Amino acid sequence: MFFYDNVNELGVKKLHIEPTNRCNSRCPHCPRTNSISIKNSGIKELTLDLIKKINISRLTHVFMCGNYGDPILCDEIYDICDYFKDYDLNIDTNGSIRSSDWWGKLGKLFANTNSRVTFALDGLKDTNSIYRIGTDWDKIIDNVKSYISAGGNAGWQFLIFDHNKDQVEEARELSKSLGFKTFKLKRAIRRTNDTSIKFVNSGWASLENVYKKKKEVICRASKNNKTYKFYISCDGDVLPCCHWGGAYFPYKYKEIENCDFAKVVSDIDISLHTNSWENIVNAYQTKSKIMKEGWSNNDLPTCVTHCGTTKRDNNIVWL
Ligand SMILES: C[S@@+](CC[C@H](N)C(=O)[O-])C[C@H]1O[C@@H](n2cnc3c(N)ncnc32)[C@H](O)[C@@H]1O
Ligand code: SF4
Ligand code: SF4
Repeated sequence: MFFYDNVNELGVKKLHIEPTNRCNSRCPHCPRTNSISIKNSGIKELTLDLIKKINISRLTHVFMCGNYGDPILCDEIYDICDYFKDYDLNIDTNGSIRSSDWWGKLGKLFANTNSRVTFALDGLKDTNSIYRIGTDWDKIIDNVKSYISAGGNAGWQFLIFDHNKDQVEEARELSKSLGFKTFKLKRAIRRTNDTSIKFVNSGWASLENVYKKKKEVICRASKNNKTYKFYISCDGDVLPCCHWGGAYFPYKYKEIENCDFAKVVSDIDISLHTNSWENIVNAYQTKSKIMKEGWSNNDLPTCVTHCGTTKRDNNIVWL
């Protein structure tokens, strides 16, 4: 059975929330850097009041990362964290935002909970800002220290590039001495034609090739009938997952003309600004058939690309 067959009965268990489309950095292969849709959309940001429209009675996990911004820049991020702190919240950030006092407050809020911050640090003092352009290493380390010493649980995510590949061991040692709980390596994906950054691998295989190889789709928003996930974009749209979010935003803000799954959502008001959570979820329930048909006919390329069974092996190594 597919989640949307009986979404109301099952209830949403996991949320992926994109609090804002603002960022202080300009990572060359981030979808927001040089994005026309970011210019067209202007600032888009969630508020706690809007988030409170979501029925969280069966919620267990919350993930704040997204495609187009850094969650910590959202004006109401502290209150949103407070609201979700008991739901195994994970926030991804470049860490070079806000004062060390603010990070101390967040560390205190998360102390003795399962919630955590993943800091995206791609190298050390001399290399991190090669990709994380505009970030300040000393400020990041002050923020990390303040957060961890107040009791906050922190993870280090390291994207591997040619310019930092020899610093992995040193970074791992530093992560231990600073009190990070985890250190993870992630293969960097080449997403744009920018050539300023050298990759250690050929980057992302062309999406066309990935798509050709894939067959059966296993939807991660409803995997094993246990996940039951929704994604909320920075402008309040409710979509099944961040992959749809990543494609829908440039379509909505006129950077691209086509979107393969627009046919699924075109007759639903998916915005929490103008519709209720219950209405949106009910509307998705009526889309179960069209989604299943799309997967079996290879008619939903976004789904085949991200959730086809021949998806590339997990590129994350935990140390
Ligand atoms: C758009 S970012 C938003 C969250 C936050 N601003 C950050 O950078 O962690 C979403 C995720 O993409 C990752 N990311 C950025 N550039 C990447 C690349 N070239 N390859 C793989 N992941 C990348 C980030 O580290 C983060 O985990
Ligand atoms: S810090 Fe995150 S959101 Fe900001 S530009 Fe880099 S990858 Fe994108
Ligand atoms: S990309 Fe498609 S198949 Fe994968 S989680 Fe999203 S909706 Fe489900």
